[in-house]
Amino acid sequence: MVTAFAPGKCILFGEHAVVYGQPAVAVSIDAGVEVTISESNKWSLEGMPFEPSKHPHISHIINDIFQYSGSPLEIDVKSGLFSAAGLGSSAALSNSMGAALHHLTKPEEPLDLISLARIGHSAEANAQKGRASPTDTATSALGGCVVVSGERVEGTEHIFDSTLETPEGSRSWSICRAALPELEDIWIVLGFTGIGSPTGKMVAGVSELIEREPQRMDDIRAIGEITSSGLESLSEGNMEGVGLAMNSCHERLRNIGVSCPEIEGLISAVQNHSLGAKLTGAGGGGCMVSLTRHPRRVAECIEIAGGKPLISKLGSGGARILPQ
Ligand code: PMV
Repeated sequence: MVTAFAPGKCILFGEHAVVYGQPAVAVSIDAGVEVTISESNKWSLEGMPFEPSKHPHISHIINDIFQYSGSPLEIDVKSGLFSAAGLGSSAALSNSMGAALHHLTKPEEPLDLISLARIGHSAEANAQKGRASPTDTATSALGGCVVVSGERVEGTEHIFDSTLETPEGSRSWSICRAALPELEDIWIVLGFTGIGSPTGKMVAGVSELIEREPQRMDDIRAIGEITSSGLESLSEGNMEGVGLAMNSCHERLRNIGVSCPEIEGLISAVQNHSLGAKLTGAGGGGCMVSLTRHPRRVAECIEIAGGKPLISKLGSGGARILPQ
C-alpha cells in the first residue's frame, strides 16, 4: 500500500495575464489531495468499479505515462480542496496519483519532483483538450512559491522549462522558484463562493473583451507590472507591499470582467482584517484570497458573508509519499 499527498495552490498574482505571456506567482497551500493505492484482485476507485473514461487524469497516468500492467489497483482519494474552485484540485489529484504509482512500481527510485510536475501537466493537458498551463501542476509538485512566465524572471531560481502542443500551436513556459522569507505571523485565507469556476469560459471571455476593446491590454500589462512588484515585496518579506499589490491586481482583474458579485461580497467582508484581498484563479466564481495576520477573524467574516473559508500558510511543502 502506498499513500501520496500533493498540495493545492493559490495564485497570488498574474492570473489571466499569464495567458498573454506575463508572469504569474502561485504558492502551494496546506490542503491538498491524498491518494492511496494498493494491489488487489479487481480495479476500484473509492470502493466502486473503476471506470477509466470517467477519470481521465488517473487513467492517463496509469495507462499512457506508466503503461502499468501489474495487478489491479484499489484506489482511494481524500481531498481537502474545494473542487472546480481554482485551487488546483485536478493537478493535486494527478500529482498524488503519479507519486503513488511511481513509489509502488519503483520503490527504490526517489521521487523526482520535476518529472512529477511533467506527469501532472501531461494529465491536465490530456483531460483539457490540450490546453493547460503548468502553473497548478508545477506549484503542487515543487511546493513553495512558483513563478510561471513566458520568459525567465529576474531574482528567481530557474527550475525547468515546459512546452505543450496546444490546438493553437506550441506554447512554452519557464518555471522558476522564488525563495519565501520566514512568514511566522502571516496566513492566506481562501474564500470559496460556492460557484464552480469555469476556467476555459473565463479565458475566452477575456480574449473576446480584448478583441472588442484593445485598450484592455493596458490592464494585462499592468497586471504583469503589479506581479513583478508584488513578487519583489514578497521576497523582501514586505507583506504590506504584497497586500497593496493584491488589491491593485484585483482592480485590474475587475476591469477585464472576471470578478462577480459573490467574489466582491467576500472581498468587502474581509477588507478590515486583511493586508490585501483579490480573486484567485479564473474568477467568475471560484475563490477569493485574503492575506492576513488574523486568519480566524477573516474566516469568520467569509462564513458570515456566505462563503466557505480555508486557512493556509504560504508555500507549504510539495508532493510527497506519506509514511504508512
Ligand atoms: O482557476 P485556475 O486554477 O484554473 O487558474 C486559471 C488561471 C488562468 O490564468 C485564468 C488560466 C491559465 O491557464 O493560466
